[in-house]
Amino acid sequence: MPGPEPAKQPLFHVLEALYLARAVYVVAELGVADHLRTHGPTTAAALAEALGAHPVSLHRVLRALAGFAVFAEDPEGRFHLTPAAVPLESEAPWSIRHWARMAGAPPMMVGVGQALEAVRTGEVAFELAHGESVYDLFARDAVLDDAFVRGMSAFTEQQAAVLVPFLQLGEEEAVCDVAGGRGALVEAMLRAHPRLQATLFDRASGAEAGRARLDAAGVGARAETVAGSFFEAVPPGRDAYTLKHVLRDWDDGDAVRILRTIRAAVPAHGRLLLVDATLDPRNDTDRLVKLMDLEQMWVLGGGLRTRAELERLLVEAGWTLVDLRPTPIVDAVVLEARPA
Ligand SMILES: C[S@@+](CC[C@H](N)C(=O)[O-])C[C@H]1O[C@@H](n2cnc3c(N)ncnc32)[C@H](O)[C@@H]1O
Repeated sequence: MPGPEPAKQPLFHVLEALYLARAVYVVAELGVADHLRTHGPTTAAALAEALGAHPVSLHRVLRALAGFAVFAEDPEGRFHLTPAAVPLESEAPWSIRHWARMAGAPPMMVGVGQALEAVRTGEVAFELAHGESVYDLFARDAVLDDAFVRGMSAFTEQQAAVLVPFLQLGEEEAVCDVAGGRGALVEAMLRAHPRLQATLFDRASGAEAGRARLDAAGVGARAETVAGSFFEAVPPGRDAYTLKHVLRDWDDGDAVRILRTIRAAVPAHGRLLLVDATLDPRNDTDRLVKLMDLEQMWVLGGGLRTRAELERLLVEAGWTLVDLRPTPIVDAVVLEARPA
């Protein structure tokens, strides 16, 4: 009995989804959703004229996306925003526009092109392709770095309000968000706790963007921003250190180095609040989270970990895991650790 033709096979749809992902990248980079929000329904020709694209090619991209309810075409050939297209707007809650711009950019595609060689050898696909790490490339490519920092921040802006209560911060504490991007979590912590003092620590691009953001949000007087590397030192003496969605970027050796740097900075009474996914050792993890694990493996050489694996890294770096608090965010639990 022959199986169904490829168009009826789920896996063939997965293969064709490569082109769907490219189409999403193209409209994200061009800013189609922002244009439609500002100017209302627009033909592909007018969009192409305004955004600098080839009219027929852009029409084919939009026509294909409309097949997946990302934009809709009316009988006059004008394209409209749809609920599925709204996250492609820069300022939408849970916006994925800048993430799509980063994740679909040519260096990232070239990087994951080495997936097979990476699985054969255990090397990092991105590094096989480029001869350097993704953060080293970001340091040289300000446009890509900006898309990454903004993309990550758009997620964290929404997650932070949910996560802050699970951090269980004291009202008058000083907290440092290590690798806190452009300060979305710091802003949420300061808003939730009016007497808290907070430090945002990240690479220069995050710290600079964070300074502007925290000042604009009216919480700048209680916020310090520090640029540096968590492989060298983080600001010492804070009551609590948060580390959200960071360890997953790194292999075990580097993850322990980061945890040791914070351990060297924390006072005896202080604590670490690690926010990350925990994988189910019996493979009952959300399937999207397991794709994120592949992304970490191929792009950064990191990965998601089980609770036991995270605890082992903590112990190796001189911490004791004292609590694990699940949160409603699909890839975030709070692991609280104290100096051992
Ligand atoms: C996946 S993002 C998470 C950002 C933020 N914690 C959040 O959840 O939105 C990882 C962060 O690590 C930062 N980072 C990478 N290498 C770093 C280093 N050597 N020192 C400090 N921060 C670094 C990046 O700039 C980025 O902001």
